[in-house]
Amino acid sequence: MTRERISLSEHWRFYKHSMEDQSPFRGERLDLDDRSWEQVKVPHDWAIAGPFDADNDVQVNSVIEDGITNKMVHIGRTGALPIVGIGWYRYELSVPFGWVGKRVLIEFDGVMSDSTVYLNEQEVGSWPYGYTSFCFDLTERLRFGQTNVLAVRVCSLPSSSRWYPGAGIYRHVRLIVTGPIHVGPWGTYITTPHISDQSAQIRVVTTLVNALLQPKLVELKTILIDPNGRVCGEATSELEFTDRTECEQLVAVTEPALWDVAAPQLYKAVTIVSVLGLEVDRYETPFGIRSIAFDAQEGFKLNGTAMKLKGVCLHHDLGALGAAVYVRAIERQLELMQKMGCNAIRATHNPPAPELLDLCDRMGLLVIDEAFDEWAEGKVTNGYHRLFKEWAEKDLRAMICRDRNHPSVIMWSTGNEIREQWMEDGAEVARYLTNICHDADPTRPVTAGLSMTDEAIRNGLADAVDIPGWNYKPHRYAEYHEQRPDWIAYGSETASTVSSRGVYHFPAAEEIPMKRQKDLHASSYDLSAPRWGSTPDREFMAQDELPYMLGEFVWTGFDYLGEPTPYRTEWPSRSSYFGIMDLCGLPKDRYYLYKSQWSMEPVLHLLPHWNWPGREGEYIPVHCYTSYSQAELFLNGISLGVSRKSTDSLYERYRLRWEKVPYEPGTIRVVAYDNDGNEAMSHEVHTAGAPARILLEPDRSGIQADGHDLSFITVSIVDERGRRCPTASEKVSFTIQGAGELAAIDNGDPTSTTSFRSDSICTFSGQCMVIVRSLAGQPGTLRITAASGALQAATADIAAVPPAEAGIGELDSRSS
Ligand code: GAL
Repeated sequence: MTRERISLSEHWRFYKHSMEDQSPFRGERLDLDDRSWEQVKVPHDWAIAGPFDADNDVQVNSVIEDGITNKMVHIGRTGALPIVGIGWYRYELSVPFGWVGKRVLIEFDGVMSDSTVYLNEQEVGSWPYGYTSFCFDLTERLRFGQTNVLAVRVCSLPSSSRWYPGAGIYRHVRLIVTGPIHVGPWGTYITTPHISDQSAQIRVVTTLVNALLQPKLVELKTILIDPNGRVCGEATSELEFTDRTECEQLVAVTEPALWDVAAPQLYKAVTIVSVLGLEVDRYETPFGIRSIAFDAQEGFKLNGTAMKLKGVCLHHDLGALGAAVYVRAIERQLELMQKMGCNAIRATHNPPAPELLDLCDRMGLLVIDEAFDEWAEGKVTNGYHRLFKEWAEKDLRAMICRDRNHPSVIMWSTGNEIREQWMEDGAEVARYLTNICHDADPTRPVTAGLSMTDEAIRNGLADAVDIPGWNYKPHRYAEYHEQRPDWIAYGSETASTVSSRGVYHFPAAEEIPMKRQKDLHASSYDLSAPRWGSTPDREFMAQDELPYMLGEFVWTGFDYLGEPTPYRTEWPSRSSYFGIMDLCGLPKDRYYLYKSQWSMEPVLHLLPHWNWPGREGEYIPVHCYTSYSQAELFLNGISLGVSRKSTDSLYERYRLRWEKVPYEPGTIRVVAYDNDGNEAMSHEVHTAGAPARILLEPDRSGIQADGHDLSFITVSIVDERGRRCPTASEKVSFTIQGAGELAAIDNGDPTSTTSFRSDSICTFSGQCMVIVRSLAGQPGTLRITAASGALQAATADIAAVPPAEAGIGELDSRSS
């Protein structure tokens, strides 16, 4: 093997000290005794276990973007978790004599944040931005045949983010051991300049590094492998160079299998570097053959076919698992979004974990890859603005060079609602970044999410990107299009509708801005949003009526930690209400509204629940999210009439409504009719009885015994007849035996202060979620037992099987 990739995941030691602790601490020292430090696995997020506390990372600042011009106190803005502080990580690295003459590099997918890496007490390098990947060469400082001490200092400053950033080495780390002449870090760039049905031209540019510092004659061979694993083209070049060089190769592929959202076909380029006939490095790059086009009149086209972007914005946290990367948790999020009919992800507001892009490549999802939430002008005291001048180009190039071979990536976004939108030099800064993107990858357009659109048009910023993204402007799209018919545009951020799963406030009327409620929740009729936001319905209408719009990116697919708008100061609100799914990944009603518009599957969903004791005779508004255009509602068998979708009124266009249903316990049943008036589908909601037992529903009953794989177990409180009790708040305790452990627990309540690492939690709207993890190298059965007072307990068995030869775990062995 000419290139080894060694994952540094197990056996790290971790120690955190507070920012106030001024005593000089040198965690990199060789003679330091770290045996009392916590033993951790990387990826690791030191803050996620909590405890939640209103005093964690209190921020005092304005939010000009949200119309808050005076400084105010924000509680829970970054999740009310203990992110702030200095963390030290240490790793004992055995370096065999066999590595003499090799190059040994260390590659971090992301460290949150301001990290400095040491080897054997010597500083190797630092990297401040928490979201970009970086690579350092360790070779000169290695001690062969000995144990070397790798140390990483991480500094997480207060008020550094507008959402939960996580803290620590929260993404994967690996060593790369290869020959002195090798492919540089992220050293291939593959594009497809010409594509036709008969053939595609593949252009491969390879960066080679020669650490011998004397000229060498090198053979560079690139072999292309098609999606069936067959060789479909190759090119060989000879070059002599010292230090570093780039080599361009063109290869033709006949009858290319195109990468598409429906059939995401992936090719692979295998790069082989040889000297005197001897292979010295081998590097693999997955890629796809596809064309993207953006047109001011016809919208977005993938491989020549028009397609509306039905997208969601995603922050990087994985709910109760925090920011630490779990491939399965990312995959589950993407699966849930894709099931809803979503075809695109905007990675907000920072470059995602590389695994997210690997998954989008494999699953057929389109991606906007975004660099920054701040440029030179800050939003929070210690945000990116303090780094911008020195680091923006390095970070932007790091993002693009790492990500430009992914067929899923369709646009580069240089920023979100950056304050330069309304500043005099806004266009100049935007142009500087656009030029860097064009230089690093001329094949994709550059965008930015703009909220102060009039200002950004006036100062020229909207023209300094290729495609302006309009945040929250469905009411202005037509006007901007008329003003500038040459602009290609889309809703880079839409809706920001707020809701708490299973919570309903009456009446069901549009409320923008949403008024704060005593219970610190938001109603699930999906009619409330902050001042700048809107409802799903408003955006659907704009997109339907304006075919030139590329589509939309809903804020957000999932609730995320931090930003509990509109409860900026009310404790204990500590996570967002914007998600289509709650923080556990359980669907809110809104999921079915999007699915009814975005997916091809038939949808028929009723809200609210039907447990309103004490409200007999009161009118309860009943809404139905459906892909059908008409349906009839029955209460205990009696018809309440047919409701039909109508373009006469916004809130009858995408939903069916019966506003005055006099409550009586029993059953509401909805029957959907097709266009000929025939019954097509029906759905019932029952009044549940008293809580009687617990129901456990794992999303997967078999996982890999690799220490990373997860099963998400939905826990519901049900009555004697097995009907979910929609208001049950019962404390459930969990025990796990056998081949696994508890990874995290949550109930989706944005005001819960139960630690995500607790072994018991109260259900919220009748449900909660337990996430269990396998143990590395320990196949067997994992048994989870759930108990709650007098309720009938439940158990579920999950099989942990030896890791498959190739599977999701393999994502971490991508080439780099
Ligand atoms: C936008 C912003 C997002 C989030 C959202 C909440 O203005 O870009 O990051 O804050 O508002 O509605």
